[in-house]
Amino acid sequence: MMAVRVLPTAQEVAVAAADLFDELLRRQPDAVLGLATGSTPLGMYDELIRRHDQEGLSFAEARAFLLDEYVGLPREHPGRYRNVILRQLTDRVGLPAHRVHAPPVESPDLAAACVTYEGKIADAGGVDLQVLGLGTDGHIAFNMPGSEFTSRTRLTTLTEQTVLDNARFFGGDATLVPREAVTQGLATIMQARSIVLIVTGAGKAAALHSLVEGPLSEQMPASVLRDHPRTTVLVDQVAVQLLSLR
Ligand code: F6R
Repeated sequence: MMAVRVLPTAQEVAVAAADLFDELLRRQPDAVLGLATGSTPLGMYDELIRRHDQEGLSFAEARAFLLDEYVGLPREHPGRYRNVILRQLTDRVGLPAHRVHAPPVESPDLAAACVTYEGKIADAGGVDLQVLGLGTDGHIAFNMPGSEFTSRTRLTTLTEQTVLDNARFFGGDATLVPREAVTQGLATIMQARSIVLIVTGAGKAAALHSLVEGPLSEQMPASVLRDHPRTTVLVDQVAVQLLSLR
């Protein structure tokens, strides 16, 4: 079941999302966290950092898997998603870097390395709680419209819209955004025991509208979540403005 919870502001959404990770980590300190990059989870990450600093929330025994990684950026590039998450969250909450895993992008046999990545997630016991952001075109991770609901971790090409959306992370220059990435598939994401999809801001209103009120369709990759047993969609007031049921 996919439950939609509307909160007044993005800050309240961030706190509600942080509550889910907080509860999990206090119950199960060695939990497997599914992390996302992009702007959406930043408020939640800041709240988790605050709780780590001020309330003793520990990540010392946790493990983390990223949803996606760009292909073609040097290992030290600040835009590499693994570097981004170290900087924005894991280094700041004491989650050891060697337990932060990103999809493989350098292997000469990428297909085999993708299978190995899925095996690593399975060996860790599977993702306990996965945070997701929503692309303006309905993508989750880098599963672009048209991605199969049965898809697994694989190489994919970003849509032009996504390249433009992500140019802001590359100094506003779309030509610097990699065109390819390795992403967890929709079926991979669906294996997470719990999922929180965060949707905030007016820019996501149209995508949220088709996710919640449109058809279940591979053209709206996030709609796969409607069949997940434990997915919470946390949204703010401006993101729900196009919903007829609100
Ligand atoms: C990032 C990711 C993407 C983003 C999505 C929304 O790891 O998987 O699916 O969640 O592109 O991006 P923002 O949050 O920047 O609007």
